[in-house]
Amino acid sequence: MASQMTDNKTQDTVDITFEGKSISLPIVRGTENESAADISKLRSTSGLITLDPGYGNTGACQSAITFIDGEKGILRYRGYPIEQLAEHSTFLEVAWLLIKGELPTRADLALFSREIARHTMLHEDFRDFFGSLPKDAHPMPVCAATVGALATFYQEPESDRQIQNTVIRLLAKMPTIAAYSYKHSIGQAFMYPQNDLDYSANFLQMMFATPCEEYVVDPVISKAVDLLLILHADHEQNCSTSTVRMVGSSQANLFAGISAGISALWGPLHGGANQKVIEMLEQIAREEGSAEKFLNRARDKGDTTRLMGFGHRIYKNYDPRAAVLKKTCSQVINKLGTSSRLLEIAMKLEEIALRDEYFVSRKLYPNVDFYSGVIYKALGIPTNMFTVMFAMGRLPGWIAHFLEMRNDPDFRIGRPRQVYTGSKERPYVGMDRRS
Ligand code: CMC
Repeated sequence: MASQMTDNKTQDTVDITFEGKSISLPIVRGTENESAADISKLRSTSGLITLDPGYGNTGACQSAITFIDGEKGILRYRGYPIEQLAEHSTFLEVAWLLIKGELPTRADLALFSREIARHTMLHEDFRDFFGSLPKDAHPMPVCAATVGALATFYQEPESDRQIQNTVIRLLAKMPTIAAYSYKHSIGQAFMYPQNDLDYSANFLQMMFATPCEEYVVDPVISKAVDLLLILHADHEQNCSTSTVRMVGSSQANLFAGISAGISALWGPLHGGANQKVIEMLEQIAREEGSAEKFLNRARDKGDTTRLMGFGHRIYKNYDPRAAVLKKTCSQVINKLGTSSRLLEIAMKLEEIALRDEYFVSRKLYPNVDFYSGVIYKALGIPTNMFTVMFAMGRLPGWIAHFLEMRNDPDFRIGRPRQVYTGSKERPYVGMDRRS
């Protein structure tokens, strides 16, 4: 595993004064010149902690996996620009890159693909497991529960070798789990994986074939799915990845970490936004003139409505993944020979928002979820599966971060502190004296 984590402390310091005492904080600098004040000794030397709700200014770790410059709209996996990976790579190649740190050789990739293909099947007992869940369950908690349940089927202690097996099993079984969660929701028979198909084509086959009807995978569709997986593969310390790291920091196993990551991703402010975007576009399509009405609500401080698929904690410029997806959307829709009213509405909304003072002044641009749903829809992926597609894509990123954390010499259990604002000490009041 390539590790580029070094001691990046510089000679520079930042000084703060507290209760008349000066405290010097060392400055740590990353390879792209990002600077951080190291506060790891702050509490023990001064009694102070830092307060940063939502962690917008807190670096929880040093990481060599993904670089984002949100001001310039840059995203790179292991140094490679997302646009180049999107154009030339495949999802499994990107998964290897994220997890191992370097692009695979042809032989590496062939072996990796073969190993993954060998582990795509789920234990037959999972049929009963799925059968015990309600039919109308959303596929996201079904996937989270299934990945968590894998830990009950593979209970070996987590040695280095074992963790590598877990990595292969997770990558191999995730498309099967995703497709089964969909088949369960529509009451159709589960389709076994076909290991002569590539990763994305195999997933599509398990989703759409039935025992009575073969499904011939359209290469335009499987290539588009592969691209979507690549674009979602990592995004440094986002909510779900931080969750995976947090769970793993207690030395819980990788299955537990990934299951928690899937749960965190489900929320509408994170991966769940892609489903919400389509629901928003469909509502606008149904109600003539509702785009302006929707934007008015999104701008209104008294209304909790947000323009879904817009805005990002890190990007204060166009999300580079959204740029690739916008282009791909038109190409895929043209190649499939369909038209998309939803794409037209999305483009119109974007055009209005990017000229609107509210969105411009807050630097709110389309994020990855704004166009991904339109493509999924055009490819025939059901709406409640959109966030599951995101989870399939994000899996190698989660794995890479989990392993990086475990190999970090500074690795400690994650345990933030707090500023307590509750009652001061008070004596217990007996039941008969309570009003
Ligand atoms: N529509 C309307 N107003 C917005 C939006 C939006 N989509 N996003 C942010 N704002 C406003 C927000 O009300 C605030 O205004 P003010 O300064 O007047 O109080 C300002 O912009 C800053 O927003 P914030 O909530 O402080 O920003 P954040 O960094 O905490 O939240 C976000 C980031 C992604 C949760 C948020 O932009 C949002 O809710 N977007 C819609 C949901 C969405 O598309 N999520 C997918 C994120 S990308 C995929 C992923 O990584 O999961």
